[in-house]
Amino acid sequence: MSFTVEYQNTPFLKTSRVKKDVSRLNYRCELLLTQNSHAIRNKRVLDLASHDGLFTYACLKLGARYVVGVEPRSNLVSDANENLRSLGCKTNQYEFVIDDAFDYLSTVEEEQFDTILCFGFFYHIKNQTELLDLITSTKPKYLILDTFVEDFQLPKAELHGIRRRETKKIAGYMVFYQEDQDFDMASFGSSNLVGMPNKSLVEALLIDGGFNFKQINWNDENVIDRGDITDYKKQTRVSYIAETTDS
Ligand SMILES: C[S@@+](CC[C@H](N)C(=O)[O-])C[C@H]1O[C@@H](n2cnc3c(N)ncnc32)[C@H](O)[C@@H]1O
Repeated sequence: MSFTVEYQNTPFLKTSRVKKDVSRLNYRCELLLTQNSHAIRNKRVLDLASHDGLFTYACLKLGARYVVGVEPRSNLVSDANENLRSLGCKTNQYEFVIDDAFDYLSTVEEEQFDTILCFGFFYHIKNQTELLDLITSTKPKYLILDTFVEDFQLPKAELHGIRRRETKKIAGYMVFYQEDQDFDMASFGSSNLVGMPNKSLVEALLIDGGFNFKQINWNDENVIDRGDITDYKKQTRVSYIAETTDS
């Protein structure tokens, strides 16, 4: 597969704290952004948890009109500004804001952004419903979601216990963890308790949020796993392009 955005020789290989094999970054950009370029080209994009600017940069390369990256760790925002400057991005086309995603989203006006990216963040929080409510209240056209999911299977007996008369079906479940906030990719804020939803719950939350969505297919034969995207292939990490419905 040839990549429209190539991370080889970019500073992100040094500054990113996320898994940063070149091929993984190239595939993430290709499948999450390039193959959804209708949601990026000429669009105003909000990159939640923008880290060192790696996907803000990709959006600009793919012709986004304007991109705002939100990231609460000031050292990462410094890296992001320096990275995009050194890569020659036009400073009037992007901005990095040092903020918590929830706080920032509550200041966003309706239709201020066409597309919201939520990459590598949905499992670093415990209030996924609140995040989706905030996102939908800003009325974006598209949400691109990329997240690890929990694949722990509840024993049948436990599932039976959850079922009550008024329960139509079990939508999914979430496993809670405590993260070490010393890591530059962990949750940020007053709580280090985070919830990792399973795949069914992610989909139930998207439906509940009023989104039509399509799962991005990482099992296409052209997507070759050299050990760097096994999580995507095994669907312990999943991604979606979601569109808001008008109702
Ligand atoms: C695993 S990294 C993901 C980075 C990038 N989006 C990606 O997918 O590769 C998680 C990022 O979320 C940021 N983060 C943690 N808590 C946050 C919050 N409350 N609001 C916004 N970003 C947050 C971290 O600082 C870190 O940069």
